[in-house]
Amino acid sequence: MKSIFVTGGAGFIGSHTCLLLLEKGFTLFILDSFVTSSQKSLKRVSLILSNKGIDIKGKIYLVEGDIKNKYDIERVFKMSFELNKIIKSVIHFAGLKSVAESVKNPFLYWENNVNGTINLLKVMVKFNCKNIVFSSSATVYKAKSNVPLFENDICEPFNPYGNTKLTIERLLKDIYNSDSSQWRIASLRYFNPVGAHESGLLGEDALGKPNNIYPLITQVAIGKIKEIKIFGSDWPTVDGTGIRDYIHIMDLAEGHFAALDYLLKEKPQFLTINLGTGIGTSVLELIRCFEKVNNIEIPFSFDNRRVGDNAFVVADNSLAKKILNWNPKRNIDDICRDGWNWQLKNPNGY
Ligand code: WQD
Repeated sequence: MKSIFVTGGAGFIGSHTCLLLLEKGFTLFILDSFVTSSQKSLKRVSLILSNKGIDIKGKIYLVEGDIKNKYDIERVFKMSFELNKIIKSVIHFAGLKSVAESVKNPFLYWENNVNGTINLLKVMVKFNCKNIVFSSSATVYKAKSNVPLFENDICEPFNPYGNTKLTIERLLKDIYNSDSSQWRIASLRYFNPVGAHESGLLGEDALGKPNNIYPLITQVAIGKIKEIKIFGSDWPTVDGTGIRDYIHIMDLAEGHFAALDYLLKEKPQFLTINLGTGIGTSVLELIRCFEKVNNIEIPFSFDNRRVGDNAFVVADNSLAKKILNWNPKRNIDDICRDGWNWQLKNPNGY
């Protein structure tokens, strides 16, 4: 079976995707610095699979390292050659992803996300690996009010994090154009990844106080945080609170498998694809749903709008459905149930 190099494979999205790829029979070479992730996530991946009777001996290789160090990246490729399990494709998750942190420290984000990706791509060329699925973000878009975002909409990020993601997309396009007979590239623009694996053994470990609404809700529910501060009650939306496209983490993982499977089967090409549900949910609707599904109260109060926020960020996902034959299967109730199951079983994360 094909060997896949997963950068950032111990992270929230990476670990859920690694679980799915191992279930599909892939061999994984994972590089992670554990700067914003826990190695325990991969131990849980192994536990879930062994509970299912799936033997992953010889199927998962973990290298602790950083994409900022090209020798760490080379070590992974060399290992795959020595084992005669040559890496055919890369799924590139590794990167810093806090919008607030990127505003305070743009150097950190440009060095890590952009320079790290340049290192990765140069080593891929050196080892003749020209298939890559890239973890991009809806943050690259220029906000539109009350209409879904299409892949050919204007991209105008409003923070350094989004700028690094768009820059990497443009770099990937340049590389594809330099050798379009060889490269297979899919840039996946995530909307709001949330929830957890149904087992409750794998989930989002915010490693401290989260910035995003969903892990904040689960931490209020578990009693670690007193209440939710809702940023703005006067947005032009159904109830005055911000609307987002919350996608279950396992639907997102399945989207990565669909993109990888497509690239491995089809001719060289460059794809940019939204991964979202196409359904908008307001902050108040998310809170009310969480309360209903889990029979728990989530205290909240209203605060000023957050700088850089928009009223409405929802995907048009018709391209993912048409090209990748991918459909999100899980809804907001599933998100609220699975995320709470994870938080209850892991009050302090991994
Ligand atoms: C969601 C809604 C807030 C916190 C970010 C990144 C994006 C992606 C997902 C990486 C908004 C409201 C939030 C709070 C609140 N990450 N909110 N009180 O900003 O949509 O997207 O995470 O790719 O790139 O930009 O996510 O969860 O921070 O906010 O009212 O304490 O919740 O105003 O309406 P966001 P979020």
